[in-house]
Amino acid sequence: MERPHVFVARRLPGTAVARLREQTDVDLWEDDLPPPHDTLVERLRGASGAVTLLTERIDAALLTACPRLYAVCNVAVGFDNIDLPAATAAGVLVTNTPGVLTDTTADFAFALLLAGARRVVEADRFTREGRWRTWDPGLLLGTDVWGGTLGVVGMGLIGAAMARRARGFNMRVLYSSRTRHPEIEAGLGVEPAELDVLLSASDFVSLHAPLTPETWHLIDARRLAQMKPSAVLINTARGALVDQAALYAALLAGRPAAAALDVAEVEPIPMDDPLLTLPNVVVAPHIGSASFATRAKMAGMAVDNLLAALAGERPPNLLNPEALARAPRRD
Ligand code: NAP
Ligand code: GLV
Repeated sequence: MERPHVFVARRLPGTAVARLREQTDVDLWEDDLPPPHDTLVERLRGASGAVTLLTERIDAALLTACPRLYAVCNVAVGFDNIDLPAATAAGVLVTNTPGVLTDTTADFAFALLLAGARRVVEADRFTREGRWRTWDPGLLLGTDVWGGTLGVVGMGLIGAAMARRARGFNMRVLYSSRTRHPEIEAGLGVEPAELDVLLSASDFVSLHAPLTPETWHLIDARRLAQMKPSAVLINTARGALVDQAALYAALLAGRPAAAALDVAEVEPIPMDDPLLTLPNVVVAPHIGSASFATRAKMAGMAVDNLLAALAGERPPNLLNPEALARAPRRD
């Protein structure tokens, strides 16, 4: 029997790709940078399945141009790079990697919170510039994290993991989400709040909602102006949840006090982005889930999903079960 042809959009940590090679013909994109979109379309034209990253845009035109494509398995929990309705209409199964990266990403979000509050990156820069002359009672003062109020926007897996960490710092936690979560409220002692209330009451606001048409620029100029002047905004979700130009203006105006970002509206953030000129901004290159163990688990999960789809089974992390009812597009 002919082995299915699959495209893998990057080298991946761990043994997942080797496992995929045992059952399929793998076309592996070996470059460090993502394939240009036209090249992606070309490479997917004859493929039954794809392992993609958040850098690969899977849109309606691509799906039309690749009629053999049956499953797209993202190595990420976020899937805003994929046009899910178009995939469903085309009978293409789409999967993601929920759960395995939750704690790793929450660790990093909390690291950014601490970095923003206690000016860790600025302090390191200060030392390396040879400016450490003495113990100065007024040097690099920041905001206390312990006992502060954390506002979590998007009380899903990572939002809840963030709230769990905040408990260890004796923080009050408010949350705003699409739905109420009474079990998380009871279990973690978090309090629901309207977004406007959360913004004005929180010392730290951490974003954990997916990027959707509803969350695009959720944090805009009006909402930034609701934050405390001493507050820190943490974004490990997606850059476009925040109006980045408005964030720059707000930080210049002194409200909020700082921002700590793992994501940007355009990635990589252009080197002439004015945010990079501000000392009170920390920008990481989208590494929330970047631990050796977690990245290998994400790759393994994506490959498990793809192998299940190609075997005619329901992939464990299927995002669009409706696609199963469509005409199968398989080899
Ligand atoms: P999740 O479990 O699906 O949680 C997302 C939560 O956001 C859900 O609980 C959801 O609502 C809530 N939500 C959806 N729409 C909303 C809206 N309009 N307003 C407020 N809340 C809304 O996903 P997760 O695993 O926690 O991941 C969250 C996001 O983090 C991902 O989508 C991804 O973009 C990002 N991420 C980034 C990294 C990184 O490396 N920086 C790593 C992993 C994930 P309900 O209230 O209905 O439950
Ligand atoms: C990373 O950003 C993810 O969505 O997993």
